[in-house]
Amino acid sequence: MSASGQKAGATDGVKGSALDLFRSRYLHRFAPYLAECERRMAGITGQPGGSLESSSTMTLAAGGKRLRPLLVFLSARKGYEPGEDHYVAAVAVEMVHMATLVHDDVLDGAELRRGEPTVVSRYGPGVSIAAGDYLFSSAFDVLSATGSARSVSLLASTSLDLSRGELMQMAAAGDFSLTRQDYEERCRLKTSSLFATSCRLGALLSGCGDEVVEAMGRFGSCIGLAFQISDDILDFSGDGELTGKLSGVDLRDGTVTLPLILAMEQDRGLAPLLAGDLDEARITEICRRVRLSGGLESARRQAEGYVEQAARALSLVEGVIDTEPLELIAAATVDRST
Ligand code: IPE
Ligand code: IPE
Ligand code: MG
Ligand code: MG
Repeated sequence: MSASGQKAGATDGVKGSALDLFRSRYLHRFAPYLAECERRMAGITGQPGGSLESSSTMTLAAGGKRLRPLLVFLSARKGYEPGEDHYVAAVAVEMVHMATLVHDDVLDGAELRRGEPTVVSRYGPGVSIAAGDYLFSSAFDVLSATGSARSVSLLASTSLDLSRGELMQMAAAGDFSLTRQDYEERCRLKTSSLFATSCRLGALLSGCGDEVVEAMGRFGSCIGLAFQISDDILDFSGDGELTGKLSGVDLRDGTVTLPLILAMEQDRGLAPLLAGDLDEARITEICRRVRLSGGLESARRQAEGYVEQAARALSLVEGVIDTEPLELIAAATVDRST
């Protein structure tokens, strides 16, 4: 249970000493902001009526780490007390995130999300598409209240990136020759872009100049990559009780991720296993060989490299933005079990 009373709250899934430090030093300051976001989001998802209301409400009520709204608040200028614009931006990025999750679960055929049945498994693809669209549209509806054309444009180009990333992933399904570069490009689109926009919005709406906004964008982009790599490691090794998702979804969908790419570079016997039908026995064997080949550790080292890059971006905003809580969150994106 989080400070904000949600089932799975801000950063609950980001475990490790960096998170403990973040919690003890900073959560009391940010928890009230996140609680206000929850109240506003519940107002939005409770509106449409019928199965659309239940489906969008269930996505919200199922919890989630609320990492992206947290980044909006953490990326504000030092000493800045969040105003209306920050709440609106924090709500908007989480609404876009939830929309992508609802749609992503249709594309991935996922059964479990945030520890609950997915919208698609409960209501089917039609309601999921409509609920995702509702969440997307609501994000832009609330963000337009800032009157900041730049903010709306940032979120719009991020939404395009998210769609391109998902389309790219679908087009590459079953392509086991995917390169590290292809993988990184996809992650930048489907995940980093929203992390970067969350950080940029936090800085922009607190009156930071362009250089700071761009440095925060780079920071967000790097931790987004680290975060997605960790998610892809968890798909091989995670505990479903903790992640709230079923493991092995990527492999079953033919989605090639960094741990598999790195494992294939070490274990030439993996490629033949990937050809043909991936039944449960085959999937178990592939997972075993990915672990044995060191693919998970190598992927983790790459994620840590992105966290180091993120720290370098933060060094450019020292004195303008409070960097310690951001460093802790960056470190925690790799050390997580959910
Ligand atoms: C899941 O994001 C999608 C990815 C980018 C891997 P989160 O792990 O932040 O999902 P919630 O919001 O906590 O459920
Ligand atoms: C991230 O990729 C999806 C989005 C950015 C929506 P995944 O497909 O790996 O995310 P999970 O594992 O379903 O949360
Ligand atoms: Mg998915
Ligand atoms: Mg995943």
